[in-house]
Amino acid sequence: MRTILVANPKGGCGKTTLATNLAAYLADQNQRVVMWDMDRQKSSLEWLALRPAEFPSIASLDAERDEIHPDIPENSDWLVMDSPAGMHGKNLAHALKLAQKIIVPVQPSVFDMSATRDFLDRLMEEKTVRKHRSFIGIIGMRVDPRTRAAATLEQFLKQYDLPVLTYLRDTMVYVNAAFNGKGIFDLPPYQTERDLPQWQPIIEWVKA
Ligand SMILES: Nc1ncnc2c1ncn2[C@@H]1O[C@H](COP(=O)(O)OP(=O)(O)O)[C@@H](O)[C@H]1O
Ligand SMILES: [Mg+2]
Repeated sequence: MRTILVANPKGGCGKTTLATNLAAYLADQNQRVVMWDMDRQKSSLEWLALRPAEFPSIASLDAERDEIHPDIPENSDWLVMDSPAGMHGKNLAHALKLAQKIIVPVQPSVFDMSATRDFLDRLMEEKTVRKHRSFIGIIGMRVDPRTRAAATLEQFLKQYDLPVLTYLRDTMVYVNAAFNGKGIFDLPPYQTERDLPQWQPIIEWVKA
């Protein structure tokens, strides 16, 4: 089983958007996907409840019941972990132990970058990261790569020597898809022609 954690202590930076879209993409590829929503707000589970029954199914784990030692179905191909704002301590340690790939969405604002700093320091100290057994990928969230904000984000991330996988634009496409339990990959291509290319590096990195 392959495992992906989407994490950043900052609320509203795009964790659930990334986790749900990634899960939907993998499910659309006929992969057996389990979502573990570690957030008590349960946004990912709510999204899953909205998902049309005829769509490729995604299994789920319940955070409250399964916290720390979730019963992950053995035949799963992928575990996608969505995490809460401010996750730290044993919950973070446990999630990091499970994760092969750690996706960190960052919005290019001074508030988001400073809130992310300690978290990235913590990740870089993680043994599995140091030993190259797990990998961190940054995603610039709601950003136009041509802007000064994007350049500032890139400058900020240089000190960590971490890959910026891609920039995802600010668009209602994500918001509207979520209303129906969908990811952008579930939408007609004409609605997502600007977004699918932005996702390509994420897909390649996750599968590599
Ligand atoms: N690329 C994007 N474009 C537009 N809205 C976005 C984008 N990414 C996230 N959002 C919106 O921002 C809000 C916070 O995103 P969310 O994924 O819930 O963040 P988190 O899980 O980190 O708290 C949501 O309303 C979501 O729909
Ligand atoms: Mg969330």
